[in-house]
Amino acid sequence: MKIGVSGASGKLGAGVVENLRLRSGVEVVGITRTPLPTGSHETRFGDYDQPESLDAAYAGLDRLLIIPTVALAPGQRTQQNLAAIDAARRAGVPHVVFMSSAGARARPEPDVWASYFAAEQHLMQTALQWSILRMNYYAESFADEAKAALAQGALVGLGENRVAFVSRADLAAAAAGLLAGEGHEGAVYVGTGPRAWTGAERADLATKLAGKPLQHVTMPLQDLRARFLDAGLPPHVVEVVLSIRQGFVAGGFDIVTGDIEILSGRAPQSLETVLMKAFSDQVAPA
Ligand SMILES: NC(=O)c1ccc[n+]([C@@H]2O[C@H](COP(=O)([O-])OP(=O)(O)OC[C@H]3O[C@@H](n4cnc5c(N)ncnc54)[C@H](OP(=O)(O)O)[C@@H]3O)[C@@H](O)[C@H]2O)c1
Repeated sequence: MKIGVSGASGKLGAGVVENLRLRSGVEVVGITRTPLPTGSHETRFGDYDQPESLDAAYAGLDRLLIIPTVALAPGQRTQQNLAAIDAARRAGVPHVVFMSSAGARARPEPDVWASYFAAEQHLMQTALQWSILRMNYYAESFADEAKAALAQGALVGLGENRVAFVSRADLAAAAAGLLAGEGHEGAVYVGTGPRAWTGAERADLATKLAGKPLQHVTMPLQDLRARFLDAGLPPHVVEVVLSIRQGFVAGGFDIVTGDIEILSGRAPQSLETVLMKAFSDQVAPA
Protein backbone atom coordinates (compact mmCIF):
# COMPACT_ATOMS: atom_id res chain seq x y z
CA MET A 1 0.00 0.00 0.00
CA LYS A 2 1.36 3.42 -1.04
CA ILE A 3 0.80 6.08 1.65
CA GLY A 4 1.57 9.77 1.09
CA VAL A 5 2.32 12.23 3.88
CA SER A 6 1.79 15.87 2.85
CA GLY A 7 3.84 18.02 5.25
CA ALA A 8 6.46 15.28 5.61
CA SER A 9 9.36 17.60 6.48
CA GLY A 10 7.65 19.09 9.53
CA LYS A 11 8.06 17.82 13.07
CA LEU A 12 4.76 15.95 13.04
CA GLY A 13 5.12 14.76 9.44
CA ALA A 14 8.63 13.40 10.00
CA GLY A 15 7.31 11.41 12.95
CA VAL A 16 4.51 9.93 10.85
CA VAL A 17 6.95 8.96 8.08
CA GLU A 18 9.27 7.32 10.62
CA ASN A 19 6.38 5.30 12.09
CA LEU A 20 5.10 4.23 8.67
CA ARG A 21 8.55 3.11 7.56
CA LEU A 22 8.56 0.53 10.37
CA ARG A 23 5.40 -1.11 9.03
CA SER A 24 5.64 -3.96 6.59
CA GLY A 25 3.67 -3.72 3.35
CA VAL A 26 3.74 0.10 3.40
CA GLU A 27 5.50 2.22 0.77
CA VAL A 28 5.86 5.79 2.09
CA VAL A 29 5.87 8.92 -0.07
CA GLY A 30 7.01 12.09 1.74
CA ILE A 31 5.52 15.23 0.15
CA THR A 32 6.95 18.67 0.88
CA ARG A 33 8.11 21.88 -0.78
CA THR A 34 11.65 20.78 0.06
CA PRO A 35 11.96 17.13 -1.03
CA LEU A 36 15.38 15.66 -0.36
CA PRO A 37 16.54 12.31 -1.72
CA THR A 38 16.48 9.67 1.01
CA GLY A 39 17.79 6.14 0.81
CA SER A 40 14.69 4.92 2.59
CA HIS A 41 11.56 6.26 0.87
CA GLU A 42 10.24 8.25 -2.08
CA THR A 43 9.95 12.03 -1.78
CA ARG A 44 7.93 14.35 -4.02
CA PHE A 45 7.46 18.09 -4.41
CA GLY A 46 4.08 19.48 -3.40
CA ASP A 47 3.14 23.05 -2.44
CA TYR A 48 -0.32 23.79 -1.02
CA ASP A 49 0.02 27.32 -2.45
CA GLN A 50 0.58 25.89 -5.97
CA PRO A 51 -2.38 23.47 -6.23
CA GLU A 52 -1.29 22.26 -9.69
CA SER A 53 1.89 20.83 -8.10
CA LEU A 54 -0.27 18.55 -5.92
CA ASP A 55 -1.71 16.55 -8.83
CA ALA A 56 1.61 14.84 -9.50
CA ALA A 57 2.45 14.76 -5.78
CA TYR A 58 -0.69 12.75 -4.95
CA ALA A 59 -0.79 10.53 -8.09
CA GLY A 60 -0.97 6.79 -7.47
CA LEU A 61 -1.41 7.00 -3.69
CA ASP A 62 -3.71 4.58 -1.90
CA ARG A 63 -3.92 6.78 1.17
CA LEU A 64 -2.90 10.35 1.91
CA LEU A 65 -2.36 12.27 5.13
CA ILE A 66 -2.88 16.04 4.86
CA ILE A 67 -1.05 17.95 7.61
CA PRO A 68 -1.96 21.65 7.60
CA THR A 69 0.77 24.29 7.68
CA VAL A 70 1.38 26.88 10.38
CA ALA A 71 0.43 29.72 7.96
CA LEU A 72 -1.42 32.27 10.10
CA ALA A 73 -2.45 34.95 7.56
CA PRO A 74 -6.28 35.07 7.69
CA GLY A 75 -7.75 32.56 5.25
CA GLN A 76 -4.44 31.18 3.95
CA ARG A 77 -4.58 27.88 5.77
CA THR A 78 -8.21 27.35 4.75
CA GLN A 79 -7.26 27.90 1.13
CA GLN A 80 -4.31 25.48 1.44
CA ASN A 81 -6.41 22.77 3.10
CA LEU A 82 -9.17 22.99 0.48
CA ALA A 83 -6.60 22.96 -2.35
CA ALA A 84 -5.02 19.78 -0.95
CA ILE A 85 -8.40 18.06 -0.54
CA ASP A 86 -9.44 19.01 -4.09
CA ALA A 87 -6.11 17.78 -5.50
CA ALA A 88 -6.51 14.45 -3.71
CA ARG A 89 -9.97 14.11 -5.30
CA ARG A 90 -8.59 14.94 -8.76
CA ALA A 91 -5.81 12.39 -8.28
CA GLY A 92 -8.41 9.79 -7.25
CA VAL A 93 -6.81 9.04 -3.85
CA PRO A 94 -9.19 6.43 -2.41
CA HIS A 95 -8.78 7.43 1.26
CA VAL A 96 -7.71 10.82 2.68
CA VAL A 97 -6.86 11.46 6.33
CA PHE A 98 -6.86 15.02 7.66
CA MET A 99 -5.05 16.24 10.80
CA SER A 100 -7.52 18.59 12.46
CA SER A 101 -7.86 20.29 15.82
CA ALA A 102 -9.72 19.31 18.95
CA GLY A 103 -12.70 21.61 19.42
CA ALA A 104 -12.92 22.55 15.71
CA ARG A 105 -16.23 24.28 14.96
CA ALA A 106 -17.68 26.90 12.61
CA ARG A 107 -15.86 30.13 13.42
CA PRO A 108 -14.98 33.16 11.30
CA GLU A 109 -11.37 33.88 10.32
CA PRO A 110 -8.92 34.50 11.90
CA ASP A 111 -10.09 32.06 14.60
CA VAL A 112 -7.70 29.09 14.73
CA TRP A 113 -10.61 26.68 14.29
CA ALA A 114 -11.87 28.27 11.05
CA SER A 115 -9.49 26.46 8.69
CA TYR A 116 -9.84 23.10 10.44
CA PHE A 117 -13.65 23.20 10.37
CA ALA A 118 -13.77 24.28 6.71
CA ALA A 119 -11.40 21.46 5.78
CA GLU A 120 -13.33 18.83 7.73
CA GLN A 121 -16.58 19.83 6.03
CA HIS A 122 -15.02 19.89 2.57
CA LEU A 123 -13.33 16.53 3.12
CA MET A 124 -16.56 14.89 4.26
CA GLN A 125 -18.42 16.27 1.24
CA THR A 126 -15.86 15.50 -1.48
CA ALA A 127 -13.40 12.74 -0.56
CA LEU A 128 -13.96 9.19 -1.79
CA GLN A 129 -13.26 7.93 1.75
CA TRP A 130 -12.02 10.02 4.65
CA SER A 131 -10.92 9.93 8.28
CA ILE A 132 -10.08 12.76 10.64
CA LEU A 133 -7.62 12.86 13.52
CA ARG A 134 -8.24 15.91 15.68
CA MET A 135 -5.19 16.88 17.74
CA ASN A 136 -5.34 18.28 21.21
CA TYR A 137 -2.86 21.04 22.05
CA TYR A 138 0.78 19.98 21.72
CA ALA A 139 2.48 19.20 25.05
CA GLU A 140 5.69 20.51 23.45
CA SER A 141 4.03 23.87 22.72
CA PHE A 142 3.01 24.08 26.38
CA ALA A 143 6.61 23.22 27.39
CA ASP A 144 7.86 26.16 25.29
CA GLU A 145 5.25 28.43 26.84
CA ALA A 146 6.12 27.23 30.36
CA LYS A 147 9.83 27.87 29.82
CA ALA A 148 9.12 31.47 28.76
CA ALA A 149 6.58 31.92 31.57
CA LEU A 150 9.03 30.64 34.22
CA ALA A 151 11.32 33.54 33.40
CA GLN A 152 8.45 35.93 34.21
CA GLY A 153 6.78 33.93 37.02
CA ALA A 154 3.35 34.03 35.36
CA LEU A 155 1.46 31.68 33.07
CA VAL A 156 -1.14 33.96 31.54
CA GLY A 157 -4.61 33.04 30.29
CA LEU A 158 -8.10 34.44 29.78
CA GLY A 159 -9.73 32.30 32.44
CA GLU A 160 -9.46 28.94 34.15
CA ASN A 161 -9.53 26.07 31.66
CA ARG A 162 -8.63 22.43 31.22
CA VAL A 163 -6.44 21.05 28.42
CA ALA A 164 -5.42 17.42 27.76
CA PHE A 165 -2.00 18.16 26.21
CA VAL A 166 -0.69 15.48 23.84
CA SER A 167 2.83 14.89 22.56
CA ARG A 168 3.64 15.13 18.85
CA ALA A 169 5.28 11.69 19.03
CA ASP A 170 2.00 10.14 20.18
CA LEU A 171 0.03 11.95 17.47
CA ALA A 172 2.53 10.76 14.85
CA ALA A 173 2.25 7.14 15.99
CA ALA A 174 -1.56 7.39 16.04
CA ALA A 175 -1.70 8.94 12.56
CA ALA A 176 0.51 6.14 11.22
CA GLY A 177 -1.75 3.53 12.82
CA LEU A 178 -4.80 5.16 11.25
CA LEU A 179 -3.17 5.40 7.80
CA ALA A 180 -1.93 1.82 7.72
CA GLY A 181 -4.94 0.30 9.50
CA GLU A 182 -8.35 -0.86 8.34
CA GLY A 183 -11.92 0.08 9.26
CA HIS A 184 -11.34 3.80 9.86
CA GLU A 185 -13.49 5.14 6.98
CA GLY A 186 -15.72 7.98 8.18
CA ALA A 187 -14.19 8.00 11.65
CA VAL A 188 -13.31 11.13 13.63
CA TYR A 189 -10.68 10.50 16.32
CA VAL A 190 -9.37 12.93 18.93
CA GLY A 191 -5.74 12.45 19.95
CA THR A 192 -5.31 13.57 23.55
CA GLY A 193 -3.02 13.13 26.50
CA PRO A 194 -4.04 10.88 29.40
CA ARG A 195 -5.63 13.65 31.52
CA ALA A 196 -6.69 17.30 31.39
CA TRP A 197 -4.84 19.95 33.40
CA THR A 198 -6.25 23.21 34.74
CA GLY A 199 -4.11 26.33 34.42
CA ALA A 200 -3.32 26.22 38.13
CA GLU A 201 -2.41 22.53 37.97
CA ARG A 202 -0.04 22.93 35.04
CA ALA A 203 1.60 25.97 36.67
CA ASP A 204 2.13 23.86 39.82
CA LEU A 205 3.57 21.03 37.73
CA ALA A 206 6.04 23.38 36.02
CA THR A 207 6.96 24.84 39.42
CA LYS A 208 7.67 21.36 40.79
CA LEU A 209 9.74 20.24 37.79
CA ALA A 210 11.67 23.49 37.27
CA GLY A 211 12.14 24.31 40.97
CA LYS A 212 10.99 27.88 40.26
CA PRO A 213 7.66 29.52 41.15
CA LEU A 214 5.04 29.83 38.43
CA GLN A 215 1.46 31.04 38.88
CA HIS A 216 -1.51 30.86 36.56
CA VAL A 217 -2.80 34.40 36.14
CA THR A 218 -5.93 35.39 34.23
CA MET A 219 -6.60 38.75 32.61
CA PRO A 220 -9.21 40.33 30.29
CA LEU A 221 -8.91 39.88 26.53
CA GLN A 222 -7.79 43.44 25.81
CA ASP A 223 -4.99 43.21 28.42
CA LEU A 224 -3.72 39.91 27.03
CA ARG A 225 -3.85 41.34 23.49
CA ALA A 226 -1.77 44.34 24.65
CA ARG A 227 0.70 42.04 26.39
CA PHE A 228 1.27 39.96 23.24
CA LEU A 229 1.57 43.06 21.05
CA ASP A 230 4.06 44.59 23.51
CA ALA A 231 6.07 41.37 23.28
CA GLY A 232 6.44 42.06 19.54
CA LEU A 233 4.05 39.47 18.07
CA PRO A 234 2.55 40.59 14.71
CA PRO A 235 -1.13 41.62 15.09
CA HIS A 236 -2.50 38.81 12.88
CA VAL A 237 -0.59 36.24 14.95
CA VAL A 238 -1.87 37.79 18.18
CA GLU A 239 -5.48 37.31 17.05
CA VAL A 240 -4.88 33.61 16.30
CA VAL A 241 -3.15 33.07 19.65
CA LEU A 242 -6.02 34.85 21.44
CA SER A 243 -8.53 32.61 19.66
CA ILE A 244 -6.63 29.58 20.96
CA ARG A 245 -6.80 31.00 24.50
CA GLN A 246 -10.55 31.60 24.03
CA GLY A 247 -10.82 28.02 22.79
CA PHE A 248 -9.15 26.84 26.02
CA VAL A 249 -11.73 28.71 28.13
CA ALA A 250 -14.59 27.41 25.95
CA GLY A 251 -13.47 23.87 26.81
CA GLY A 252 -12.47 22.98 23.24
CA PHE A 253 -9.36 21.14 24.42
CA ASP A 254 -10.94 19.67 27.58
CA ILE A 255 -11.37 16.22 26.14
CA VAL A 256 -9.64 12.97 27.08
CA THR A 257 -10.04 9.94 24.83
CA GLY A 258 -8.41 6.56 24.44
CA ASP A 259 -7.83 7.21 20.71
CA ILE A 260 -4.02 7.47 20.85
CA GLU A 261 -3.83 3.99 22.34
CA ILE A 262 -6.52 2.61 20.00
CA LEU A 263 -4.64 3.85 16.91
CA SER A 264 -1.00 3.49 17.99
CA GLY A 265 -1.24 0.51 20.34
CA ARG A 266 0.45 2.36 23.19
CA ALA A 267 -0.67 4.69 25.97
CA PRO A 268 0.03 8.42 25.47
CA GLN A 269 2.87 10.09 27.36
CA SER A 270 2.01 12.20 30.37
CA LEU A 271 2.55 15.95 30.42
CA GLU A 272 5.10 15.38 33.21
CA THR A 273 7.21 13.21 30.90
CA VAL A 274 7.22 15.79 28.09
CA LEU A 275 7.95 18.68 30.48
CA MET A 276 10.74 16.82 32.26
CA LYS A 277 12.43 16.17 28.92
CA ALA A 278 11.97 19.76 27.75
CA PHE A 279 13.33 21.19 31.00
CA SER A 280 16.30 18.80 31.11
CA ASP A 281 17.16 19.62 27.47
CA GLN A 282 17.21 23.29 28.53
CA VAL A 283 19.66 22.84 31.41
CA ALA A 284 21.85 20.20 29.75
CA PRO A 285 25.46 21.44 29.34
CA ALA A 286 26.43 22.35 25.78
N1 LIG B 1 -2.07 20.92 18.24
C1 LIG B 1 -1.26 21.94 18.42
O1 LIG B 1 -1.00 22.38 19.54
C2 LIG B 1 -0.60 22.56 17.25
C3 LIG B 1 0.33 23.55 17.46
C4 LIG B 1 0.96 24.09 16.35
C5 LIG B 1 0.61 23.62 15.09
N2 LIG B 1 -0.31 22.65 14.94
C6 LIG B 1 -0.67 22.09 13.63
O2 LIG B 1 0.10 20.92 13.40
C7 LIG B 1 0.75 21.02 12.14
C8 LIG B 1 2.07 20.31 12.14
O3 LIG B 1 2.88 20.83 13.17
P1 LIG B 1 4.44 20.72 13.10
O4 LIG B 1 4.93 20.98 14.46
O5 LIG B 1 4.85 19.46 12.41
O6 LIG B 1 4.78 21.98 12.15
P2 LIG B 1 6.13 22.27 11.36
O7 LIG B 1 7.26 21.49 11.91
O8 LIG B 1 6.26 23.76 11.32
O9 LIG B 1 5.81 21.73 9.89
C9 LIG B 1 5.02 22.44 9.00
C10 LIG B 1 5.05 21.71 7.66
O10 LIG B 1 4.29 22.49 6.74
C11 LIG B 1 4.98 22.40 5.48
N3 LIG B 1 4.55 23.53 4.66
C12 LIG B 1 4.63 24.85 4.95
N4 LIG B 1 4.11 25.57 3.94
C13 LIG B 1 3.73 24.68 2.99
C14 LIG B 1 3.12 24.80 1.72
N5 LIG B 1 2.81 26.00 1.18
N6 LIG B 1 2.84 23.68 1.02
C15 LIG B 1 3.15 22.46 1.52
N7 LIG B 1 3.72 22.27 2.73
C16 LIG B 1 4.00 23.38 3.44
C17 LIG B 1 6.43 22.43 5.83
O11 LIG B 1 7.20 21.80 4.84
P3 LIG B 1 8.15 22.50 3.76
O12 LIG B 1 8.52 23.88 4.28
O13 LIG B 1 9.32 21.60 3.61
O14 LIG B 1 7.30 22.52 2.56
C18 LIG B 1 6.42 21.52 7.07
O15 LIG B 1 6.51 20.17 6.65
C19 LIG B 1 0.89 22.51 11.95
O16 LIG B 1 1.17 22.80 10.66
C20 LIG B 1 -0.43 23.02 12.50
O17 LIG B 1 -1.44 22.87 11.56
C21 LIG B 1 -0.91 22.11 16.00
